[in-house]
Amino acid sequence: MSFIRNAWYVACWSSDVKLGELFHRQILDEAVVFYRTQEGETVALQDRCPHRFIPLHMGKLVDGRIQCAYHGLEFDCTGRCVNNPHGDGRIPSAARVKSFPTVERHTFVWIWLGDGKPDISAIPDYGVLDSQAGYKTSGGYLHMNANYQLMADNLMDLSHITYVHDGYLGSPEQAGAAEVVESSERAVQANRWMPNISVPGIFDLLYRQDGQAVDMWTNMKWTAPSCFLLDTGVHRVGGQKEERGWYYGVHILTPETEHSTHYYFAVAMPVATALGPDEDRRYQALRRFAFEEQDKPILEAQQAALTGADFWEMKPVLLSVDAGSVRMRRIIEHMLEEERSNASTSINNTAVAD
Ligand code: FES
Ligand SMILES: [Fe+2]
Repeated sequence: MSFIRNAWYVACWSSDVKLGELFHRQILDEAVVFYRTQEGETVALQDRCPHRFIPLHMGKLVDGRIQCAYHGLEFDCTGRCVNNPHGDGRIPSAARVKSFPTVERHTFVWIWLGDGKPDISAIPDYGVLDSQAGYKTSGGYLHMNANYQLMADNLMDLSHITYVHDGYLGSPEQAGAAEVVESSERAVQANRWMPNISVPGIFDLLYRQDGQAVDMWTNMKWTAPSCFLLDTGVHRVGGQKEERGWYYGVHILTPETEHSTHYYFAVAMPVATALGPDEDRRYQALRRFAFEEQDKPILEAQQAALTGADFWEMKPVLLSVDAGSVRMRRIIEHMLEEERSNASTSINNTAVAD
């Protein structure tokens, strides 16, 4: 296994990178340190001093440069060493760290770790989180000790809500719901339609709070390699979408290592969803409970059960509910294959040029 590198990944929430502070996160096995310049730009550098390999985040910011905690080398926002306080102060040419392109968009810091040219237009559209979109938004973060593709399967196949989130997000009649799966070169859409079902707890809270049966939809879009946008809600049986009772769910996965994942989740709901402060707290707590206390243990148990083996080599039984996630995995494999062959082409070209 390896990761698709030529893609934008969410590194953190924009609010995680504060002026005057160092923030660090491991992404695709790469240690990265972040800080914000006086001008408000986010800087992302390799988090490893080239002298004795101390994480730079253990150092401090001095006049917009990171000063290493161990012997005081200083690195500017391009990753170049610009101050050596020792000897004659000469700066060895190898005294530099990698810097990575970042973009702040839709309340996230996105990072590009690949060798290819970053294309800003490839950042998935999470405009529902932008303040001008006019939705009520909130978000959170969870760390999962599981490969990101296991979590992606979970999000792509929402039949699990009947069993894992029974009562909160799920209800018994959701299993067996009709699902339509469509895919393109870099995306999969999986739509489930569930007419006349008992209302799941969270949706009752958002809609009428009367426990009456509803029609429900969960339309999930995956954009490669690991970005999900869910359009989900309920309305009265046989009715139409109303001004409340639905929301957009944002679910974004960033691989930390082969066996661990950063999980960013958020919600954007219409302003007509007039929850009082207590109801809002209950809603947030229920969602967090669902992800942290219900999904997370399942995912981590799955990862442990795989004991490092390849997913397909384990010969998983396939069910109809796996249609979306199998397509997603195929697209990822294809993209990985493309990256590998581009990398070997460029190595061969270099060899010829030599
Ligand atoms: S380890 Fe960073 S300056 Fe020595
Ligand atoms: Fe779940």
